[in-house]
Amino acid sequence: MKLTIIGTGYVGLVTGTCFAEVGHQVVCVDNDPAKIKVLQAGGIPIFEPGLEELVRKNTQAGRLSFTVSTAEGVRQSDVIFIAVPTPPLPDGSVDLSFIEKVAREIAASMASYKVIVDKSTVPVKTGDQVAETIKRYCKTPVDFDVVSNPEFLREGFAVEDLMRPDRIVVGVRSQRPVQAMKEIYKPFNAPVIVTDINSAELIKHASNSFLALKISYINAISVMCEATGANVQEVAAGMGMDVRIGRRFLDASLGFGGSCFPKDLSAFIKIAEQVGYDFKLLKEVQNINSRQMERFVKKIVDTLWVLKEKKIGVLGLAFKQNTDDIRSSPAIDLCHRLQKEGATLRVHDPKAMDKARAVLKEVTFVEDMNEVADGCDALVVATEWGEFKKLDLARARQALSHPIIFDGRNLFDPAEMKRLGFIYKSIGR
Ligand code: UDX
Repeated sequence: MKLTIIGTGYVGLVTGTCFAEVGHQVVCVDNDPAKIKVLQAGGIPIFEPGLEELVRKNTQAGRLSFTVSTAEGVRQSDVIFIAVPTPPLPDGSVDLSFIEKVAREIAASMASYKVIVDKSTVPVKTGDQVAETIKRYCKTPVDFDVVSNPEFLREGFAVEDLMRPDRIVVGVRSQRPVQAMKEIYKPFNAPVIVTDINSAELIKHASNSFLALKISYINAISVMCEATGANVQEVAAGMGMDVRIGRRFLDASLGFGGSCFPKDLSAFIKIAEQVGYDFKLLKEVQNINSRQMERFVKKIVDTLWVLKEKKIGVLGLAFKQNTDDIRSSPAIDLCHRLQKEGATLRVHDPKAMDKARAVLKEVTFVEDMNEVADGCDALVVATEWGEFKKLDLARARQALSHPIIFDGRNLFDPAEMKRLGFIYKSIGR
């Protein structure tokens, strides 16, 4: 099928590329000419495992193209996906101005029946607004349908998640676009849930909030574990074997971050407020998350006493593994807090150092993870990168002026660390 994706961020670019990979004819639109130039030259503006090869392969095969012209994108396809950012406003609600602008641009270029699919994460009832806007700004009356089709991909696993989705959610106002949506997703062999637009929009916010709740729940349990001498990983393993609970998203940590969970939680709390419901449960999910970071910093301060004139090595800057994304990264937050306490930092991340340079000042960026510990009073693990498990611990033991490791991601085995001579403090163990 001929498909247009407007917006080449994480969601738009991965969606467009995977659609091309399964055989659709895809044009991706972005209003940033620099980005389009990079993509046309076979590069990608983000780090995402497996994506660059797929972009190159499908561009060369003639199934994937890029343009700055929304009009061209609208002309070429019958189904147009909107995947533009929906950033937070200062009060926690969602800035929908990009969606509104794209809706107007689509309307201005529509000359025949189109299906306009919203993929961006939006508050419930946004579909109605998009439909109204398109109707208002169409030059001549044209038939169209608005569909809500939220995306659930995780950064760092985006291609994998998109190619093998758990489910496809399709929210519609009439049956007319259903066949086209099923056709688009047929190659992905996933169950398709067809529902109304409001429910589809709610499914996205409800799912992300639930996952954040799951993390805050296990983080709260980690506090119980620390107070009683239990081990949060053992508890998570035992809980997770109950299929009603499941083991995933039960990794205790120094808190969740990223461009989705914090933003979507605030947005959902705001949406609830607007419809007259005080979503206290989700406010507590946020509180637990902030307290988890505070507890971790306190652990460091309690151990080192005064951070002024102390040198600390930090492993990990991205908000999680497999990405160069530092938006709302707990690791960056941690660095700022440690600096505020007076510590000097040596930092490393396998992919996020370039992006981190813009927000972290007066730190030493270290290319080799094994050299981060050199001359430091302690080492901190802030992101769950798999390669950190291969850290040369014997070398770190020698390089540190004191053999202290704070592990905010539970990467190492406490008994083994003790055997190696470390003072080792992790989360909930
Ligand atoms: C999330 C959702 O998973 C995805 O479905 C949605 O489309 C976008 O938001 P993403 O933000 O890419 O995806 O990352 P995710 O893997 O969900 O991790 C979010 C944060 O939670 C990270 O900071 C991660 O380190 C943290 N996390 C995750 C934990 O602390 N513990 C866990 O068990 C899982």
